[in-house]
Amino acid sequence: MTSQLHNKSAGWSALFAEPMSDLVKRYTASVNFDQRLWRVDIQGSLAHAEMLHAQGLLSAADWASIQRGMAQITQDIESGQFTWQLDLEDVHLNIEARLTALVGDAGKRLHTGRSRNDQVATDVRLWLRNEIDTLRGLLADLQRALVQVAEQNVDVILPGFTHLQVAQPVSFAHHLLAYVEMFARDDERLADVRRRTNRLPLGSAALAGTTYALDRERVARTLGMVDEHGQAQVCQNSLDAVSDRDFAIEFAAAASLVMVHISRLSEELIVWMSQNFGFIKIADRFTTGSSIMPQKKNPDVPELARGKTGRVVGHLMGLITLMKGQPLAYNKDNQEDKEPLFDTVDTLADTLRIFAEMLAGITVNADAMRAAAQRGYATATDLADYLVKKGLPFRDAHETVAHAVKAASVRGVDLTELPLAELQGFHASIEADVFEVLSLQGSLNARQTLGGTAPVRVREQIARHKGRLG
Ligand code: ARG
Repeated sequence: MTSQLHNKSAGWSALFAEPMSDLVKRYTASVNFDQRLWRVDIQGSLAHAEMLHAQGLLSAADWASIQRGMAQITQDIESGQFTWQLDLEDVHLNIEARLTALVGDAGKRLHTGRSRNDQVATDVRLWLRNEIDTLRGLLADLQRALVQVAEQNVDVILPGFTHLQVAQPVSFAHHLLAYVEMFARDDERLADVRRRTNRLPLGSAALAGTTYALDRERVARTLGMVDEHGQAQVCQNSLDAVSDRDFAIEFAAAASLVMVHISRLSEELIVWMSQNFGFIKIADRFTTGSSIMPQKKNPDVPELARGKTGRVVGHLMGLITLMKGQPLAYNKDNQEDKEPLFDTVDTLADTLRIFAEMLAGITVNADAMRAAAQRGYATATDLADYLVKKGLPFRDAHETVAHAVKAASVRGVDLTELPLAELQGFHASIEADVFEVLSLQGSLNARQTLGGTAPVRVREQIARHKGRLG
């Protein structure tokens, strides 16, 4: 490699009296991980060069050479022929050096009016924008899987919990749709983050803008950095443009929330799978055995997802801490934005994929759910509501039912197993229709408020989600 980029000590300028040690080279280089940005790096370079040409800052011949060189480099990287060099520090210098080796001076002209500071900020934004689009697709798949399982389980009743104590019976579909709501909000957040990610730093150069007559909006349009009206989206302050990583932090926050929702769901799957509940089974391919206890089937996938949530939340902490002490404008600290971002995307994508598949294949034990709801006086509130409708103030009704529950629990029976005469002992207004009210189905059917667990409402929600998710 004859390029002056080859040896940094000689390459930056004559200013440097000695070369970097191997340790410092390894410490400062990012090429081992940021080569992942190669495709968007080339995309950004081509958009920049095209604009330079359109502005009369690059000849037609040079523009053609750059396109030819980049096509060659693309082919080499795709086929694994490209040699990444640690000496060239990062993805940007590697590609530029190779371009110059391939097409000569045209390659050296590419960096006109540009700095690696606005280049890397552009690359990360382009890359993340594309990843957000993929993640949103995966999030929709997961929601569809949940809605599909919900649709098959509208009339399956399980105990709803508060404080993990049996509270009131709910439809299993209703429970699953609670997670669909969470993932729908996650999608809104990702869409919002995408909007602020999809803005162009290029043209800010190192920090202050540049003396060349660049057309930044043209570059933005070429790269698809436009709003919903097709308006070019360009970062408006050069100092901010090269140093802003808010979008990365926002993304990590949105990703953390997705993982927190996955983690809550994981916790429920783990509890539901335990022998003490026996509510569901997940397919064997998502579980592992124990090396010592032959009877075990462990819920490794949900457990790992719960664990990986800590890792993603950690990346959020890493990124936000990365920014807190930085003066304007670009600082090398920012090179540390990539690994947490990459790992967040990879962890989230794999988790979403595996959860969509795992949930679509769960086996539901409706009898175990119903039996659990039958224990624990889940319909006690219904009896109180019944008495209120007979004219009792709610607080008095609450107290009356507490006595009834106490009497039933002393005898080890359900409220429905107390004879009518005995129930009437707690309040004279209780009549034979109370048994319907005290049934699990009756309890569900009665909760018809918007957002309630009555099957009629749940079916409406399923229809709404199906319409929304297509
Ligand atoms: N590899 C660097 C990064 O990831 C590229 C920008 C370097 N700019 C600089 N002035 N050293 O941030």
